Amino acid sequence: MTARVGEGSTGPKTAEADKARLEAIWRATINKLKEVVREYEITQDELHVAGDFLDRLGKAGMCRSLIDVALAMTSVEALDVAKGGTRSNLEGPYYGTHPVRPNGRLFEREPSPSASLLTLSGTVYEAETGVPAAHARLDFWQADENGHYDRAGNHLRGVVFADDAGHYEITTIIPSDYAEHDHDPIGELFRAMGRTNTRAAHIHLKVSTGSTLRLTTQLFLPTSSFLERDYVEGAVSSDLTLFLIEQEQADAGEPRYAATFDVFLGSEAT
Ligand code: DHB
Ligand code: FE
Repeated sequence: MTARVGEGSTGPKTAEADKARLEAIWRATINKLKEVVREYEITQDELHVAGDFLDRLGKAGMCRSLIDVALAMTSVEALDVAKGGTRSNLEGPYYGTHPVRPNGRLFEREPSPSASLLTLSGTVYEAETGVPAAHARLDFWQADENGHYDRAGNHLRGVVFADDAGHYEITTIIPSDYAEHDHDPIGELFRAMGRTNTRAAHIHLKVSTGSTLRLTTQLFLPTSSFLERDYVEGAVSSDLTLFLIEQEQADAGEPRYAATFDVFLGSEAT
């Protein structure tokens, strides 16, 4: 496969391959868009409306979001075909560098009393052999009970390591549906089309073994009312949707819900 644009150039050969790939992608993209202009007889005024929209989108820092919403699942599916194991999902725009959480709690501050605590645990396996992936690294990030990501800090973000038997456990809260685009150009675009701009509540997860990234996915919450209409089309699937068990005896400050999710690592990183 040709070097991917942005993967870094290690020599003149790679730099040439990067250039060729970028140029080929640029040409193919413009050619497809020209077809759209012809098909819909798009006027220059309409093209300028699109340009002004992209200016606003950039100023709002939302270009990643729109590209992810429109295209990331297509990339995931194209690269996931022969991988096997747990289904991959989009990384989304808000991944960061997260601290290790030795006690498994993803909190920077005490969670709000209105949040429902959740214990999520499971085992990481090698999909091909069924052998537990001892010491696998699991990196989680998610929105809070209001559907907001902590973008300045690391609340509800963190890394844990599986034990000798591949078992992991975190304590977090049940995230709400993500609906942060109401007041930005993405909200404006989706409203103009009569569509929602909400993502079904989810927990992001990356799993690595050694220094190799093996899986990027998302776990969906059955409490969401957007599972059937996530605005990232194709993201939600039942195999990635958690089953929540309500704890009858939970005292104040203890997790009210528990869920298990076993991870099966396929052959290639995505
Ligand atoms: C967007 C937000 C997410 O949390 C995600 O996982 C994917 C896309 C967005 O802002 O569009
Ligand atoms: Fe997300």
